[in-house]
Amino acid sequence: MIVEPKIRGFICTTAHPAGCAYHIEEQINYVKTAGQFEGPRKVLVIGASTGYGLASRITAAYGSGAATIGVSYDKASNGKRTATAGWYNTVAFENAANRDGLYAKSFSGDAFSHEMKADVIKAIKADLGQVDMVVYSLASPRRVDPDTGAIYGSVLKPVTDDYNNITIDIISGKISDVSIEKATDEEIINTTKVMGGEDWMIWIKALSEAGVLADGVITTAYSYIGPELTFDIYRSGTIGIAKEHLEKTAFEITDLLKDINGQGYVSVCKALVTQASAAIPVVPLYITLLYKIMKENGTHEGCIEQIYRLMNEKLYAETTLVDAEGRVRVDDLEMKEAVQNEITKIWQTIKTRDLSKVADMAGFRSDFLHLFGFGFDAVNYEADVKIELPIPSIKED
Ligand code: NAI
Repeated sequence: MIVEPKIRGFICTTAHPAGCAYHIEEQINYVKTAGQFEGPRKVLVIGASTGYGLASRITAAYGSGAATIGVSYDKASNGKRTATAGWYNTVAFENAANRDGLYAKSFSGDAFSHEMKADVIKAIKADLGQVDMVVYSLASPRRVDPDTGAIYGSVLKPVTDDYNNITIDIISGKISDVSIEKATDEEIINTTKVMGGEDWMIWIKALSEAGVLADGVITTAYSYIGPELTFDIYRSGTIGIAKEHLEKTAFEITDLLKDINGQGYVSVCKALVTQASAAIPVVPLYITLLYKIMKENGTHEGCIEQIYRLMNEKLYAETTLVDAEGRVRVDDLEMKEAVQNEITKIWQTIKTRDLSKVADMAGFRSDFLHLFGFGFDAVNYEADVKIELPIPSIKED
């Protein structure tokens, strides 16, 4: 099939297998060039097929020679539709790992379920014995409670008041006003059920009770804080409340794991274009300004650069430095005062500005297309490609 991007709002409903494979090799090459470090050896990544979780899997494998087990929620191709990008990423990652002599096993299904936890524990016991790192990198719009069957949806809404700001349609480049009603109490609770720390804790308890966590295990989940500009919709909104819960859970996990000297951390990362962040109102416009300034300053990083720095310079450094709230920070370059002051200044007059001068629209669009394997010069998009590709470690029934 000749595969083209089909963009609907903030998602692309097709993915290119060769483009995704190219993207994986690019990230692997980044890590190989950046160099090896003393890091984890056996790693479980929950949310491993795209964005920060994928970068974590690649960094652990190629930066520190780790065996990796990845969990994600992806769809295979049915012969007519392409698979999801995460599926092709996992195919490509496993092919590369097999080529390079690195253990890799993947699971596609619901990480929130008890069954997935049991299957993963079985695989760790059979193949690795124990894991010394667990990365929790899920971004999901819903969660089915594994005990009650209740379905919780997460929303991106303010909590104190209705919210008015500006946002951008990335494809047309048009700025428009956006109004978002404040969340109900139920929406606040449900968002925390999905994106807070409850399921992270269930995973860690299950892994710990099964005896598959190594002495000194490190587990991290990812969070975001961001500038005041996005506070009402992000940090003090429904998702921010969920992130506070996640951050609190890190301490509870450290406490739970004290007998095996384990550590739970929340690592705060930079705002980047991923499938999850493209869906947040206002944030994409902020990202276009941020990219422009950080690229000009030479401080721009993508997921792979962020996670390499996180593991190499923070989590696996001799001492892991944390902020006053106990969080590991790799959003330091984004949050620099000069960067933020510049963005605030531009934001105030953005409607009258020539966007091509102040915003990195092209960078956003190209990162967005890359998420789905499109927009790489080195890939021949006119070529017929096979869209039904198996993930090597997943046996079809
Ligand atoms: P993403 O959308 O690229 O990745 C999410 C991953 O979770 C995918 O592998 C997906 O398959 C998996 N997943 C979703 N639901 C699942 C389920 N029920 N079962 C199994 N797997 C499931 O998202 P991204 O942006 O990498 O987010 C990961 C974490 O990083 C989130 O906690 C997010 O809040 C955080 N973060 C993201 C930032 C950003 O700007 N993108 C900034 C800072 C933190």
